[in-house]
Amino acid sequence: GAGRRFFVGGNFKSNGTVEQIKNIIETLNKATLKENVEVVIAPPALYLLLARELIRPDIKVAAQNIFDKGPGAYTGEIAAQQLKDAGIDWVILGHSERRSIFGESDQFVASKTKAALDAGLSVILCCGESLEEREKGITTQVVTRQLGAVADLVQDWTNIVVAYEPVWAIGTGKVATTEQAQETHAEIRKWLEAAVSPEAAVKTRILYGGSVTEKNSAELAKQPDVDGFLVGGASLKPAFIDIINSAP
Ligand code: G3P
Repeated sequence: GAGRRFFVGGNFKSNGTVEQIKNIIETLNKATLKENVEVVIAPPALYLLLARELIRPDIKVAAQNIFDKGPGAYTGEIAAQQLKDAGIDWVILGHSERRSIFGESDQFVASKTKAALDAGLSVILCCGESLEEREKGITTQVVTRQLGAVADLVQDWTNIVVAYEPVWAIGTGKVATTEQAQETHAEIRKWLEAAVSPEAAVKTRILYGGSVTEKNSAELAKQPDVDGFLVGGASLKPAFIDIINSAP
């Protein structure tokens, strides 16, 4: 809504082979995509350069993580500057799988966000509550705490896209209702106005993620504060094209 450019990200997670990634890219390259939708795909790190070489120029490529230090003696890690050097423009940070499986704290996610922005990358910054937290009625506190750690380090949110992904909706087939998504997105926007700036509140895209499919995307996309999607499972399928084209 409000003139914000619709954004659809495809998070492949740790899925795919060389052949499968090539096939997905070929399907995207052949597709007729709605104009003025910003599309970004995030394959596993191993396939980033392959994806960047093969993908049509209007689709950008994102990493799924970085380290907040380096280049240097950090075995197994990729530095923000290295992504930039390799022509990768985006990075997903703070995904719930990284927070829960790898124990990433709000502060670590914030530090990585700052490192990414300092290196000239754009960031898809994820937040979201667990089922227990939603049932306790603390969804807003949780997501604003997660985003707040970033606001403590970063004043300029121009190159940040926020992805609201309720943990209970990720990979479960249990999509948030349009009301649940809109309500939390509106809370995030209100928080942006107070904690970052009125300009950030108006301009920052807030994506919804969690069991988005070609069947539920159009209704969600109509919500005034839903500015796009971060798609997991369905981004590996031709349905991703329908999701992109469900932009209002
Ligand atoms: O980052 C996107 C993701 O967490 C949502 O996954 O499979 O529920 O669309 P999925």
